[in-house]
Amino acid sequence: MAARVVMVGPPGAGKGTQARMLQTQRGIHQLSTGDMLRAAQQNGSPLGREARRFMDEGKLVPDDLVIRMVEERLGSPEYAGGFVLDGFPRTVAQAKALDAMLARRGERLDAVISFSVPRAELIRRLAGRRVCRGCSAMYHVHFDPPATPDVCDRCGGQLYQREDDHEETIGRRLDVYEHETQPVLEYYRVAKLLRETQGTGTADEVFARVAASVPAS
Ligand code: AP5
Repeated sequence: MAARVVMVGPPGAGKGTQARMLQTQRGIHQLSTGDMLRAAQQNGSPLGREARRFMDEGKLVPDDLVIRMVEERLGSPEYAGGFVLDGFPRTVAQAKALDAMLARRGERLDAVISFSVPRAELIRRLAGRRVCRGCSAMYHVHFDPPATPDVCDRCGGQLYQREDDHEETIGRRLDVYEHETQPVLEYYRVAKLLRETQGTGTADEVFARVAASVPAS
């Protein structure tokens, strides 16, 4: 059976980390709207230029742009056998659009995994995150440091701090989550899809909880 999973949680909750672990360990392909939007920025595409204005300020990119981008990508064969959406949907309008998109394909979601992590811990995680310019591998200066500071263990690329991981923007992103994304949890609670998960502990400990909520594929 194909597993179709959504991960919802505040910035720094570990959505990307857990989605990558599901991809590696269960073969369910990750689709991250944050990564797609950052790639669009790097390519200098019109979507990337439009998205940058919102992302650098910690605001959400408008629904219509993100929904179109996800619909196009979900249509590719790589996601025919299931997917784990990381960072989408982030508004109730996006959640409804996803339901409609899947209904057109005769599909539905299997589980929506939400993560709860105290705000102080989220700030610690985000402020210490470093990403490789070469291969996008992720590190944390305290919890998961590279062997050589600022150098990627995997490809030797340079590590950088995301523009939106500076402290003033982190606060805004957390507020945006509370106001715009938390209602999505209620939407999926009503649909009986929500699996509320404790996001604290090591990444492996969190993954054990996540894996228990995802149907075998
Ligand atoms: P996006 O890239 O999705 O960022 P985010 O949701 O803010 O999430 P993050 O990537 O910051 O955190 P995460 O939960 O994935 O945690 P991670 O695993 O990386 O979006 C960026 C922007 O794009 C948005 O602000 C918005 O502008 C736009 N956007 C994207 N999607 C959109 C949408 N659908 N609609 C509108 N706009 C959209 O972990 C974080 C750190 O913690 C890492 O250093 C990691 O190593 C560490 N860590 C992870 N797990 C643990 C653990 N268990 N213990 C200790 N450290 C841990």
